[in-house]
Amino acid sequence: MTIVITGATGHLGRLTVDHLLARGMPASDILATGRNAEKLAELADAGVRTAVVDFSDPATLDAAFTGADAIAFISSSEVGSRQPQHANVVAAAARAKVGLLVYTSAPKATDTALILAPDHKFTEEAIAEAGIPSVILRNGWYHENYGQSFAQAAATGHYVASTGEGRVASAARSDYAEAIAVALTEDGHAGSVYELSGDTAWDGTEFAALASEVVGREIVFDSVSPEEHLAILTAAGLDEGTAGFVVALDGNIRDGLLGETSGDLGRLIGHPTQPLVDYFRSIAE
Ligand SMILES: NC(=O)c1ccc[n+]([C@@H]2O[C@H](COP(=O)([O-])OP(=O)(O)OC[C@H]3O[C@@H](n4cnc5c(N)ncnc54)[C@H](OP(=O)(O)O)[C@@H]3O)[C@@H](O)[C@H]2O)c1
Repeated sequence: MTIVITGATGHLGRLTVDHLLARGMPASDILATGRNAEKLAELADAGVRTAVVDFSDPATLDAAFTGADAIAFISSSEVGSRQPQHANVVAAAARAKVGLLVYTSAPKATDTALILAPDHKFTEEAIAEAGIPSVILRNGWYHENYGQSFAQAAATGHYVASTGEGRVASAARSDYAEAIAVALTEDGHAGSVYELSGDTAWDGTEFAALASEVVGREIVFDSVSPEEHLAILTAAGLDEGTAGFVVALDGNIRDGLLGETSGDLGRLIGHPTQPLVDYFRSIAE
């Protein structure tokens, strides 16, 4: 048996390997892939097989995928190059006639104004066109996206965002990784599309209240307009492109595109998702 994990050198992929091992999968059944040689060596120390894979190099994909029973395809972090890279991954998975492809997508990927969705729509459609048996895990936001905001709020007493009253149904990376492990190892998920998110959605006011509870002093939510937010971020040293991206994502949150709680994630992993306040506690000094 061979289960290939792409992006295993990254946070989500590494946690997926850990969850597969915790569920009793023999380490020798796991082929952990990525580009970073140092991180691949760490994975090899944990007993799993490893291979260098670059999404831009089809020969490396063919070498890793040939003979695979299932593949966890964790989306590329190279946002501007995702479509050609993902097309390579899907084509290689089709050539390998893999029995199951588990892909980490984005909320409502095929029907949303979320700015990150077009690459995921492209990939979901490529997988369907290739006729590969698949499980589509439409991952919502990670708690971990807010580590820096929490630290800043703890230091300044202010949580600044242009999300208005928009809510975020974030969840811990580990919970999303566990869902990948479940989709890979349990029968009956092929053909499914799951909208994964935390059990509970929070808004800026609740973020500030939870952060206050953890740091033990008042933190207020500064609800700013998109224009004010852009000015604050560029004054803090962010380049215009990055600042615009952050503000656009906050706009998506304001519009409710990351706030839905389907319950799919908790049901898949069989336990409640980690509450945001517990994530804050885990990173508080
Ligand atoms: N839902 C969310 O809130 C959210 C937030 C951030 C990211 N994401 C998405 O979720 C994915 C996983 O998140 P993460 O936190 O695990 O990201 P991460 O820690 O940055 O890991 C990204 C992984 O992608 C691999 N990768 C990037 N380009 C590659 C290429 N050309 N060929 C092969 N592998 C490549 C990296 O490999 P090397 O390091 O070995 O090069 C690494 O293993 C990201 O890639 C991104 O698409 C989602």
